[in-house]
Amino acid sequence: MNVLVTGGCGFIGSNLVRHLRAERPDLTVVNLDLLTYAGNLENLRELEGDPGHVFVRGDIGDRELVESLLERHRIDSVLHLAAESHVDRSILGPELFVRTNVLGTQILLEACYRKKVRRFVMVSTDEVYGSLGPTGAFTETSPIQPSSPYSASKASSDLLALAFHHTFGLDVVVTRCSNNYGPYQFPEKLIPLMVVNALHDEALPVYGDGGNVRDWLHVEDHCRALVTVLEQGRAGEVYNIGGGAEQRNLDLVRMLLATLRKPESLIRFVQDRPGHDRRYAIDPAKIRTELGWRPRRTFQQGLEATVRWYVDNPDWWKHVKSGAYRQYYETQYRGRLGG
Ligand code: NAD
Ligand code: DAU
Repeated sequence: MNVLVTGGCGFIGSNLVRHLRAERPDLTVVNLDLLTYAGNLENLRELEGDPGHVFVRGDIGDRELVESLLERHRIDSVLHLAAESHVDRSILGPELFVRTNVLGTQILLEACYRKKVRRFVMVSTDEVYGSLGPTGAFTETSPIQPSSPYSASKASSDLLALAFHHTFGLDVVVTRCSNNYGPYQFPEKLIPLMVVNALHDEALPVYGDGGNVRDWLHVEDHCRALVTVLEQGRAGEVYNIGGGAEQRNLDLVRMLLATLRKPESLIRFVQDRPGHDRRYAIDPAKIRTELGWRPRRTFQQGLEATVRWYVDNPDWWKHVKSGAYRQYYETQYRGRLGG
């Protein structure tokens, strides 16, 4: 049987493709990825020569390509991860987020409906719920109140996917996951950015007062949840996925510095992200009770293993950090870090 993973060369996508090949070897994984700045075939080097992984470079918004691919590979199910994924970039330039995340998803959904794909897993995010106060957690029925252009574009694609279920009967399941961490995460996101900067003894830019809270989940636990939802989720349902590992950004950055034995004097408080969501926390009761999923890694173990991976794989991030990323980093942090 063949499954299509979109965005399979990104952070979560590449972990998912590897996970599927290891845990479901009978499935052939067709991986459609445009290889934007965030997509990297090096993330899948281990699968070179594996006939069970078919890479196709292309755009989810290319209707003809998507339809022919669904037909040619007789795709049974789709795990849709391709997206522009970084909040700060969506503030610098929202248009691409609408094109990729909204229009791209709509084109993909329509193609799946026309080509009679059996199941469509829409990988959405907890950011669609907006921000929490100091207590409580998002459930699947929390109001959709996105704050950033990124989260608004994800909320649109998430709701479009549900609309394709309600209106056309496409078998859609939506997942809304909290912040992921682990190997192969692009160093624009908090954890890899801080680790890589610390390894260079460069300043660590903490937005605002560092009191914003995120709920962290190891990417491998997320991949297991996605396979569980693909295989057992109920059509038309939404499943929150979270690790129950809330951390204030500042505490997390301090933990990273302690693990790397680097001084806290590297921390710089910089101008806050506009519209910065204060706190995310996931209530994962539904996926736990209905589908029996729960995270296996503790945050402590997962974080140490992740830091070790970045320490052991400097070639990966040195390569990723060159060129276009340098330019983005300078635009995003210019005048914020000093020195
Ligand atoms: P990422 O930015 O690392 O990867 C995105 C991938 O999509 C890249 O490989 C890129 O080349 C590809 N892509 C972009 N535009 C494309 C297009 N038009 N056609 C085909 N491919 C395209 O993102 P990630 O962090 O791995 O996130 C993957 C998905 O999971 C996203 O949909 C994101 O919204 C969602 N998500 C992420 C997190 C997180 O913490 N990272 C949490 C919850 C949900
Ligand atoms: O919650 C799920 C979401 O998590 C996903 O949908 C997004 O794709 C993913 O990027 C992530 O969004 P965040 O905005 O939470 O992640 P990011 O790593 O960009 O930031 C995490 C926190 O750290 C946030 O409060 C902002 C802060 N931060 C981030 C950066 C890059 C800093 O303080 N300094 C930084 O330089």
